[in-house]
Amino acid sequence: MNTYAPIEMRKFVAPEFLFGAGSMEMIANYVRNLGVRKVMLVTDPGVINAGWAAHVGTLIEKASVPHIVFSDVSPNPRDTEVMKGAELYEREKCDMIVAVGGGSPMDCAKGIGIVTINRMHILDFEGVDRIPLPGPPLICVPTTSGTAADISQFSIILDTRRNVKIAIVSKSIVPDAALIDPVTTTTMSPRLAAETGMDALVHAIEAYVSNASSPFTDINALRAIRMISESLPDAVESGCDIRHMDRMMLGSTLAGLAFSNASLGLVHAMAHSLGGSLDLPHGECNALLLEHVVAYNFESVPSRYGDILGAMGIDPEGMSGQAVRDELLGAIHELRVKVGIEHSLSTIGVTDETIPALAATAAADACTVTNPREASVPAIEEIFRHAL
Ligand SMILES: [Fe+2]
Repeated sequence: MNTYAPIEMRKFVAPEFLFGAGSMEMIANYVRNLGVRKVMLVTDPGVINAGWAAHVGTLIEKASVPHIVFSDVSPNPRDTEVMKGAELYEREKCDMIVAVGGGSPMDCAKGIGIVTINRMHILDFEGVDRIPLPGPPLICVPTTSGTAADISQFSIILDTRRNVKIAIVSKSIVPDAALIDPVTTTTMSPRLAAETGMDALVHAIEAYVSNASSPFTDINALRAIRMISESLPDAVESGCDIRHMDRMMLGSTLAGLAFSNASLGLVHAMAHSLGGSLDLPHGECNALLLEHVVAYNFESVPSRYGDILGAMGIDPEGMSGQAVRDELLGAIHELRVKVGIEHSLSTIGVTDETIPALAATAAADACTVTNPREASVPAIEEIFRHAL
């Protein structure tokens, strides 16, 4: 007799988004339709150098709306930068934010919006659903194919007093619209493409094994894993040729839809701790940790990891559990080496002595809650040690 297993209740949140070459050019329509008086364009020096901030600024002016630029944003955006941006936003009497860039300017822009409307300090929003009022209209133009902050409910900000990254998670910081234009990613360095691409892969893998996954996140996660593992080596090798970046941007967006709704896991918890403490690129931290967390988690959800192996192009049919585990760890390692991320944590400053503090911070991160296997501080210390 078949037993009826009800599907657990799940919510799926996503902003309106335009995808495809030329999407960015539509920004004037969006700004005009919102009827705003003055825009704050949040970006960073790298995106200014690549020319995308000026390009979007010119498009906003075409809508006859003036704008100011805020670009004091670090690769790991700081609480102090958010507060400075919010001060400028108020002083200049802006009533809308446009973020142009990777995860850093987009996370900072989300922070500026909620600080200015709620008149609270950015660190007071830490956690899930802690934002009383949503921010002003926010439109994101992503320029990396990795973070998916343009469609996600997440903002990650560095608490500079403790050197710890905090996670702010709320429907209130899902942008009003995302203009996802793969052309913007063609100016990335191959290194940045590799790191942000590995971040996107981790988003999809962690969402697929998350204990908050759903049929809606699964379908996006698996498709993203397939697309990213197929396209990332070519994207990096070709120096970010549009043919491959198109696929990477799509993969990253699908991964974003998955993780924004299923949340993440231990790779991100540990990467947040690592990146906050040593000020390292987020994607690099994820890439160096992924295979070690998969090795730890595998026994909790082996069939889910079998699906992931299949999505990476290796059919797990007929394989033993041990063979699936070995093949998957090998495939992940091979992919990161192929895109030039060949080192380990010991080469970026992690030592046996620094591990206990890193593990304690990771254990307290919001992302550990949805990891498929429970992880104590000593267990996380052990994973860090394997990754040295
Ligand atoms: Fe990430």
